[in-house]
Amino acid sequence: SIPLFDTVVSYREWRRRARDEKKSVGYVATMGALHDGHLSLVKRSLAENDLTVLSIFVNPAQFAPHEDLATYPRTLPRDLELLSALSIPGPDGTPRTPSAVFVPTVDEMYPSGISQNTQEQKGTFVEVTGYGHQMEGRTRPTFFRGVATVVTKLFNAIEPTRTYFGQKDIQQALLLRRMTRDLLLSHPDPEHLYIVPTTRDPSTSLALSSRNAYLSPYEREHVAPALYAALQAVQSAWEAGVTKAECVQRAQTVIEEKRREAGESVDLRLDYIEINDAESFEVLADPVQREEWEAEAEGRPVILSGAMWVGKTRLIDNIVLGAR
Ligand code: PAJ
Repeated sequence: SIPLFDTVVSYREWRRRARDEKKSVGYVATMGALHDGHLSLVKRSLAENDLTVLSIFVNPAQFAPHEDLATYPRTLPRDLELLSALSIPGPDGTPRTPSAVFVPTVDEMYPSGISQNTQEQKGTFVEVTGYGHQMEGRTRPTFFRGVATVVTKLFNAIEPTRTYFGQKDIQQALLLRRMTRDLLLSHPDPEHLYIVPTTRDPSTSLALSSRNAYLSPYEREHVAPALYAALQAVQSAWEAGVTKAECVQRAQTVIEEKRREAGESVDLRLDYIEINDAESFEVLADPVQREEWEAEAEGRPVILSGAMWVGKTRLIDNIVLGAR
């Protein structure tokens, strides 16, 4: 079975041996309730590193007081089973499996304690100023502070050679890449933070998410996929050259149709649909002066992103256009 470490001290002993043996360590940070999206990151790490470490930690600092910290799915035994069953051939054909799992307690990660109420927090926090208030940060203003703080701590503990984040949470991945640069981190080196494409349910294209577990089978199959359908509508409208307002309008129409189709029993609400510059994260002006903007953007990608409520469950998704 895979070695589990619940303290930084015990993990560091294992890490020291890896360093002595000159082995690269790939790292995947998670909050558990693992699904094929997480596993795609792990597989990528297995393929590119001698050793692969995962962390499973439900981080209180990234949940606002009214959010779902208490009910967030915790399925450690099943997570470990999934990881034990995972094996891909290494370069010499010998099978590679996950090498270690870091499962710290809240006290271990927050020696000064942690409150979900930012007003009451004491201790050390990491803030990526100017990049955490748009898109997801507009609805969840303290979220990225919690993420940047815990990931800094996790990077310090794990000392990854390479690390893998999902495109599903594109703003998180890009913000963390910026953070590794700004903080001059070497574990990981900013060049070694990789973004892995979103894994979707093959039949509905719904982005896999631990929070999908909150949905009924009907909502999962027939309601939740509306978000990606709406983003695809934005993509084709954007590519057809219409204004941003029109793009967003078409997305709203898709959601509206789905709401009518699903009827009274389903509570479907759009949180936002936005188009942002992938570097500055700023929302694109409307109407976007295409030629001017395209000349200025020099092929910089744009992020089409959205969030949607199905009852009490908040789902997010995105499409990145123009990424090379
Ligand atoms: P969590 O939601 O568990 O996600 C862990 C990693 O898996 C993230 O990098 C996320 O983008 C990626 N992921 C989730 N669903 C995916 C999908 N369908 N396809 C591809 N990748 C997917 O994100 C977090 O945890 C936390 O914020 C964390 C970074 C661990 C900090 O607490």
